[in-house]
Amino acid sequence: MDRLVVAGGHVLRGRVTISGAKNAALAILCAAIMSEEPVVLENVPDIRDVRVMVDLVRSLGAEVYWVSPGNLYVYLSGPPVEMPPYQQVKQLRASNLLLGPLLARFGWAEISLPGGCNIGVRPMDLHFKGLAGLGARLSLERGVIVARASRLEGTRIYLDFPSVGATENIMMAACLARGQTVIENAAKEPEVVDLANFLNCLGARVRGAGTDIIKIEGVASLGGCRRYGVIPDRIEAGTFMLAAVATRGEVVLENVIPRHLEPLSAKLREAGAEVWEEGDRIFVRAAGPLSPVDIKTMPFPGFPTDMQPQMMALLSTVPGTSVIVENIFENRFRVAEELKRMGANIKVEGRVAVIEGVEKLQGATVRATDLRAGAALVIAGLMAEGETHIENAVYIDRGYFNLEEKLRGLGAAVWRAPAGQETDTGAVLL
Ligand code: UD1
Repeated sequence: MDRLVVAGGHVLRGRVTISGAKNAALAILCAAIMSEEPVVLENVPDIRDVRVMVDLVRSLGAEVYWVSPGNLYVYLSGPPVEMPPYQQVKQLRASNLLLGPLLARFGWAEISLPGGCNIGVRPMDLHFKGLAGLGARLSLERGVIVARASRLEGTRIYLDFPSVGATENIMMAACLARGQTVIENAAKEPEVVDLANFLNCLGARVRGAGTDIIKIEGVASLGGCRRYGVIPDRIEAGTFMLAAVATRGEVVLENVIPRHLEPLSAKLREAGAEVWEEGDRIFVRAAGPLSPVDIKTMPFPGFPTDMQPQMMALLSTVPGTSVIVENIFENRFRVAEELKRMGANIKVEGRVAVIEGVEKLQGATVRATDLRAGAALVIAGLMAEGETHIENAVYIDRGYFNLEEKLRGLGAAVWRAPAGQETDTGAVLL
């Protein structure tokens, strides 16, 4: 498997353009199969998770191809020819988002229990509760979720936790149900709002996305949205903001929605960095010393769990004590062990991590255990003395479009060493 090599000590300066949001694109790609007419999705990042989802949607019999860079044509003209194979489903947790659309449009779905990032148990009980509430009959047969429904019926669903995936699955299914569905304690993440906007572009009647009560009036069919642009990726943007601050640099992010980044911007300001906004751009500068901060991950608009490992990397060199409480995924501290190999002083006890800032990290060979852990190790590598070799770079490729090129554009020394190849300085730059 490829590794990424980062030579530390380069200050990041310049401009970087943020790509379309992975998590919005994945959900919207699933929703697109509910359309009875072709649709072109714009600003779709050509990353590994999207490619896996494209293959999954193709396996249903849909026509899916890149019209031009970032623009994806999707059309499923009739019932699925077959259900996606386990080999594909297991690569992507978000494949569970095909359940609602298939059930709503065709009345049946069979999807293997998905895999995805290794960050916790990730049950699907809330998805099942919602779909069952809409009248679907669900069972688990040899690891495959089998769902059937003649016509879904609108209902009232209270989510015990504002799960992003459950909100999305239920919202998509409810668009083609008879009557009104109300989702209470719904997830408010920007990706949920983007999905609702796309569904409405297809003729759905979804109101309240972005608040904790979403109301959906079912319609008979969906279609007629020729083009739809995916929102920018707030997690990619946040990763670059943290990389800029970590190297005490000065970076302008272009193509962002600053409001989506407010939970991170506020924390960075609290830590002593300068962050300001202008239209669809964010400016980040960290000239002076930084102070420790405490973080609690929460559903949006709280601090995102997907930014927590990258924040941990930054805080590992901020003098003083920072405390992180991870409230969403129980396995999200695995990166701490890798950061410790680089000299970080982090103690983890259950859902709490206590970080004592050290003066410097040292380059080491480390392992990405999941996508955001990989991004955190890149940030650590940018700050470290010497070279950091990050194994399992494939995890990073799941969610970042052209990460190395974008970082190099800002002055970082980052390159990729294919498996088995010499990775000392001087390795072939890819
Ligand atoms: C999505 C994002 C992921 C992000 C997460 C939280 C995608 C493709 N992925 O994941 O990047 O980290 O939101 O912002 O959009 N839960 C249950 N039962 C369920 C569903 C979830 O208990 O049926 C729990 C999970 O175990 C977890 C919490 O709810 O503790 C949040 O999960 P959820 O919001 O569903 O995350 P995902 O949609 O899987």
